[in-house]
Amino acid sequence: MTKNNEPGTFRLGGDLTVGRLGFGAMRLPVSQFGGEPNDRGTGLEVLRRAVELGVDHIDTAAFYFHGGLAANDMIREALHPYGDGLVIATKVGPYKGPDDLVPSGELAAGDLRAEVERNLRELGRDSLHLVYLRVGGMDEPGGRSIAERFEVLAGLREEGLIQHLGVSHVSLDQLDEARAIAPVAAVQNRFDITQPADTAMLRACEENGIAYVPYFPLGGFGLPDDDRVKQVAARHGATVAQTLLAGLLALSPVMLAIPGTSSPAHLEENMGALSVRPTPEDLELFRS
Ligand SMILES: NC(=O)c1ccc[n+]([C@@H]2O[C@H](COP(=O)([O-])OP(=O)(O)OC[C@H]3O[C@@H](n4cnc5c(N)ncnc54)[C@H](OP(=O)(O)O)[C@@H]3O)[C@@H](O)[C@H]2O)c1
Repeated sequence: MTKNNEPGTFRLGGDLTVGRLGFGAMRLPVSQFGGEPNDRGTGLEVLRRAVELGVDHIDTAAFYFHGGLAANDMIREALHPYGDGLVIATKVGPYKGPDDLVPSGELAAGDLRAEVERNLRELGRDSLHLVYLRVGGMDEPGGRSIAERFEVLAGLREEGLIQHLGVSHVSLDQLDEARAIAPVAAVQNRFDITQPADTAMLRACEENGIAYVPYFPLGGFGLPDDDRVKQVAARHGATVAQTLLAGLLALSPVMLAIPGTSSPAHLEENMGALSVRPTPEDLELFRS
């Protein structure tokens, strides 16, 4: 499989090498929160084309479903049997009922084994490459212990059902708590280049060789309307989406981007971010 060779690769957990521009599967069933379900065939096409274009890191979850479409099922249908180099990361923690648009609560520690087994079944795997414990809702991360639930995942890792563990939507205290229980390979928090509020977490990941995998790298709710991004995009003859992604990747060697799309055209555009090279002046502008 072709690896993205610029802007380099990252070794997740020290042994799973992935290109730094991956793919987020949350938008396969539905593009916008509360919107109409997408076309299944187009989603399968997007997944296959992503791998053709060199994507070897796909981010998913069993709770990414809507209107009869489920991201895990689509990944299995489009890509199984999986190529050797393809890393599929998933996450557990939120509870989402069959009719819920978004998760409405959290699973208890005792429910996590079943959720991991559900991901194994849906993805057609014996072992999961990377499983994040996704904590809380959409409010500010932090404020309570994640130890009991992370210990369950650490036990499943010991059993061999999971290769590497991650944490998502966490504070620095919660990251420390997890790392005291088992190695953490990746953090998945909200971050985009126009709102770099999680910079302290990014620095902690750099210091500890942990991947930082931002969710909502394109803003999550429509591309941010930001003059600095437009200025850098114009300088490079790039689109806003490409500039947002290239800017993220240029910020840190531990940054892995997983933009989500259900559109073949947006996928091609987003992968074009690999040829946009922000300069130090561009990065300075983003920091201003
Ligand atoms: N851990 C967490 O709590 C959490 C939360 C959210 C997401 N995630 C993960 O992070 C991944 C990335 O986040 P995300 O997908 O929510 O947000 P995102 O990548 O910031 O944005 C996706 C949205 O942007 C649109 N889009 C994609 N490419 C575009 C382009 N080139 N031009 C214009 N619009 C474009 C998509 O619509 P189209 O389908 O029309 O392209 C979709 O509505 C997800 O797929 C998921 O795997 C994790």
